[in-house]
Amino acid sequence: MPSRRPPLLSEASFASIRQRVMQATGVQLADDRRTVIATRLHKRLKALGLASFEHYLDLLDSPQGTNEHEQLLRLLVARDSYFFREHRHFECLASWLAELDHPARLWSAACATGEEAWSLAMVAAEKARHPGWEVLASDFDPQLLESADNGIYDIAQARYFPEGWLTRHCLCDVGEMAGRLCIAQALRERVRFQTINLIRPMPAYLGSFDVILLRNLLSSLAPRYKSEVLQHLLAHLRPGGLLIIGHSESVHAPGLPLRPLLPSVFERL
Ligand SMILES: C[S@@+](CC[C@H](N)C(=O)[O-])C[C@H]1O[C@@H](n2cnc3c(N)ncnc32)[C@H](O)[C@@H]1O
Repeated sequence: MPSRRPPLLSEASFASIRQRVMQATGVQLADDRRTVIATRLHKRLKALGLASFEHYLDLLDSPQGTNEHEQLLRLLVARDSYFFREHRHFECLASWLAELDHPARLWSAACATGEEAWSLAMVAAEKARHPGWEVLASDFDPQLLESADNGIYDIAQARYFPEGWLTRHCLCDVGEMAGRLCIAQALRERVRFQTINLIRPMPAYLGSFDVILLRNLLSSLAPRYKSEVLQHLLAHLRPGGLLIIGHSESVHAPGLPLRPLLPSVFERL
């Protein structure tokens, strides 16, 4: 009978897995994640009929390894999100967009399954002074973007919505959509999804944004990638625009053209 317990994840195999994740995404898996990682990958080993992590690493290095490498990243890189997470950011944006004297370009730069991008779109639809706003939503993982672009979520997520916004911006809980909410067409027309790996050079045609959200990724990046990612993004944030990071994150990069406005909200100088 196959063991329920993960096989031993040696120091060397753990280091190799961490290195692969970091090289692909910049994410540094913490030292104390060895048991969690072994448990997550154990399911994958069982599905593939492999007896050890060393065999798994051999598979990753083989010509068939490319797809498996994507699976590895999906299992180990955090992707949690929900609508209106850290709601003070959206309150701050609501008043900022109400004052903005041109159509806003907004970027959710590590959008996971899309909740952040759709929340941004709802705030813009409700509050922006100029109607021609648009949202770019990006992530390194195209599978996440596919799900984000579908715009269908469990109805339980509606508990985070401001009052009245669910019915204004979603179809929900009827017919085929029982138990689910579906983002309405009017918002879909304004949100564009694009695969962008923030540790790689940025696509040239991105243009300049008024607001960039980089929330709940910075804290898991290795130090050298933190400043690299910030520099990549700031090159696309116009002077006077806002960079918003997660509440529990910080920007320790002296010399960056940023002025703190509120905790976790910065103005581009
Ligand atoms: C914890 S989620 C945060 C989602 C959302 N920003 C929020 O705060 O709810 C982190 C996201 O960062 C993405 N990510 C990790 N490394 C990345 C990279 N190098 N480039 C782009 N996205 C990345 C992950 O795929 C994941 O979707």
